[in-house]
Amino acid sequence: MRTTFLLNGSEITADTTPTTTLLDWLRDHPGLTGTKEGCNEGDCGACSVMVTDADGARALNACILFMPQLEGKAVRTVEGIAAPDGTLHPVQQAMVEYHGSQCGFCTPGFITTMATAHLNGETDHDTALAGNLCRCTGYAPIIRAAKAAETAPVPDHVKDTPLLLAQNTSGEAPTEPGAEPPTTLNALATWMDQNPGGTLVAGATDVGLWVTKQFRDLGPVAFLNRIPELSGVTISDDDIHIGAATTLTELHEAIAPHHPAFAELIRRYGSVQVRNAATIGGNVANGSPIGDGSPALIALGATLHLRSVNGVRALPIEEFFIDYGKQDRAENEFAEAITIPRQNDALRCYKLSKRFDQDISAVCGCFWIEVVDDVVAEVRLAFGGMAGTPKRAAHAETALRGQPWTDAVVARAMQAMTRDFRPLSDMRASAEYRMQTAQNMLLRAWLEDQGQATNVLEVTL
Ligand SMILES: Cc1cc2nc3c(=O)[nH]c(=O)nc-3n(C[C@H](O)[C@H](O)[C@H](O)COP(=O)(O)OP(=O)(O)OC[C@H]3O[C@@H](n4cnc5c(N)ncnc54)[C@H](O)[C@@H]3O)c2cc1C
Ligand code: FES
Ligand code: FES
Repeated sequence: MRTTFLLNGSEITADTTPTTTLLDWLRDHPGLTGTKEGCNEGDCGACSVMVTDADGARALNACILFMPQLEGKAVRTVEGIAAPDGTLHPVQQAMVEYHGSQCGFCTPGFITTMATAHLNGETDHDTALAGNLCRCTGYAPIIRAAKAAETAPVPDHVKDTPLLLAQNTSGEAPTEPGAEPPTTLNALATWMDQNPGGTLVAGATDVGLWVTKQFRDLGPVAFLNRIPELSGVTISDDDIHIGAATTLTELHEAIAPHHPAFAELIRRYGSVQVRNAATIGGNVANGSPIGDGSPALIALGATLHLRSVNGVRALPIEEFFIDYGKQDRAENEFAEAITIPRQNDALRCYKLSKRFDQDISAVCGCFWIEVVDDVVAEVRLAFGGMAGTPKRAAHAETALRGQPWTDAVVARAMQAMTRDFRPLSDMRASAEYRMQTAQNMLLRAWLEDQGQATNVLEVTL
């Protein structure tokens, strides 16, 4: 499959298999081996590159980025961060001055992520760099370097990255005759009908690992980034319409004014690099019981829209999850969009994981609790990590609905939750711990409603 993109300012056409990763491609090219492989699964950021398209520049992990995902985009690797005359980029200069590198293995990834944040004027360095791991220097000098470079002007060669894509938004990638990739919803529906068992690739933050870790042959592959209708958020008087291929980064920005708790949850989702790639459709479609998007969407009363050659069908998102590994999706259907009804905000989300950043939830609780005149008028309590699917706590909801919003009623609902779930013990948490923390999340929601600060970021010494 041919992919045309800009690499450090020069146009490249690469002929690769559909599942060749950018990292593998770079490492096969002398002079482009500054990008490093650490984990090969999106966790460490050693392979970070800057990818620019019409929507701007963002850091992505090259190890789980398939070449066709780059069609028409501009890639800047660590080799393209310094100016053509060799002058160091301000973040490189600062890393030298602040001693931000020891063994140097992580450094190219830090540099590309820092240069992308610098270009975008990002100054929340803890968030921007949460997806870059350093095993020896320690983060303080690196953060000091990032801060020191904040006010330095963006070098011209980075600021003026040409956009090959502007001419190719139709997504009509050069390809082999007869292998035209789908670029519209209808074409994708036809493709799925003709390729039963074929694989859809959205952000590849799951699918990428099937290739790099499980060495799976994916069979026929369709890339959703070539279908513009699948991306973006539209807000109307009735609903918030989210295209299935909308990235978590885009969703974060769009949802924050309406449901800030969902936005805060997304900030805890993977890292900047993962959020820049992962899509909400992929997060739901994979059916994971520990995905963070689904509990929030269930609590919000969202609807999932599935499309096939037979048309579009809509279902409450919670009904999509039938059992562990089993979803209500025919082989020829794909997720087209998710809609959230417009409503006054009553959402709270809590993610429990061993690390604050870049970690999968042990338990994720998202609650919609509407209290009118001190009585619980409507309630949806959705959990991830408590069962084989994302699931509502029906007994706990019943204990709350129509009851006064008091600590005694909350205590009864917490007790009722033991009838809702039989959680598993695994490496993330024991069954007992999961149950206790899920119950405590409800208590936390009540305490917050009484004005108590419970967020770890609000705790001061
Ligand atoms: C380092 C790392 C950290 C992570 N952290 C988190 C985290 O904190 N929270 C969390 O919830 N997840 C996390 N994940 C998991 C992952 O990001 C999500 O599951 C992700 O949202 C999947 O979306 P994607 O676009 O990358 O999907 P892909 O990998 O492209 O696809 C995933 C699955 O969904 C299917 N699919 C994709 N789009 C559609 C569609 N429109 N219709 C039908 N099927 C479709 C694909 O065929 C595939 O089966 C992490 C992953 C990594 C690698
Ligand atoms: S090699 Fe670790 S994120 Fe890519
Ligand atoms: S400098 Fe060695 S891992 Fe960061």
